[in-house]
Amino acid sequence: MIAATAPGKIILFGEHAVVYGRPALAAPIHHLRARATIEETGAPDVTLTAPDLNRTALLSNVNPHNPLAAIVRAVEKHCHCSLSDGYTLSVTSAIPIASGLGSGAAISVAVIRALAVYMGQGEAFTRELVSALAYEVERLHHGTPSGVDNTVIAFEQPVYFVRHDPQPAIELLTPGRPLRLLIGDTGVRSATKDVVGDVRRQWAADSRHFDSIFDACGRIAEAGRSALVAGDLAAVGTLMNDNHDWLVRMTVSSAPLDKLVAAARDGGALGAKLSGAGRGGNMIALVTGETEAAVAERLAAAGAVRIYKSDVG
Ligand code: MEV
Repeated sequence: MIAATAPGKIILFGEHAVVYGRPALAAPIHHLRARATIEETGAPDVTLTAPDLNRTALLSNVNPHNPLAAIVRAVEKHCHCSLSDGYTLSVTSAIPIASGLGSGAAISVAVIRALAVYMGQGEAFTRELVSALAYEVERLHHGTPSGVDNTVIAFEQPVYFVRHDPQPAIELLTPGRPLRLLIGDTGVRSATKDVVGDVRRQWAADSRHFDSIFDACGRIAEAGRSALVAGDLAAVGTLMNDNHDWLVRMTVSSAPLDKLVAAARDGGALGAKLSGAGRGGNMIALVTGETEAAVAERLAAAGAVRIYKSDVG
């Protein structure tokens, strides 16, 4: 049996603005992973299965927009080969879906990695290639993704990312001091595609206003890169707070997210913000060894349905 995995992700700075060409900073969540396995059957067709969701289907029968079929087709197109017979592809994930933690991109990356090994081309599938193929699949699901999710998940390192055509500018970062984060889940599911689409409608109606918000988020991401590399945790925290305020003005926060962000700050977090598309999903709080327990307690009391720990760097 072949198995491959890929991590979830958080956005430290710059979500949404990154879709419009401003920089963003993202980091993998190494211990929260999606997993893909391939077992040869020798039988005709491919069985696609997602045991977590109780779903099984045959590749030949599913709609081309089926997420697993779309990944198989993207790899077939790249390698000019057929991957339509002889195995069972199974995916499981510890990353909650529709919650801003990159579950879709992590499944794509895990499946692409597993297919590469299955074809005997594990080495040829570089991080760049895996990311580019996952981006093709993201485009089917999300319309206008920036590419930051597939990039940070395929590279498995903190990245400073700027969308450019045809290739994004990617800088891999090493924090001067590790960040200790708590991730608080509102428990409210929110589809990235819908939120990104709504921001686009608002931007189209008032581009001057939204461009000025995106510019502010871009400046924060740039300052965040310097603070992260310098290991200036207090500055990182302040910039997270600033970024959250701009995301509120962008209309992508929500009452449950604001409540968790306020609770984390009350508990002594150096900074807190929503992470990902917003309107639900997760927020992140920058804590220290001294404040971690108090912040976790406040998050739970404020309604976080799950709290994860994640270190960056
Ligand atoms: C989602 O993780 C980040 C967004 O900026 C969308 C994207 O970059 O494609 C909201």
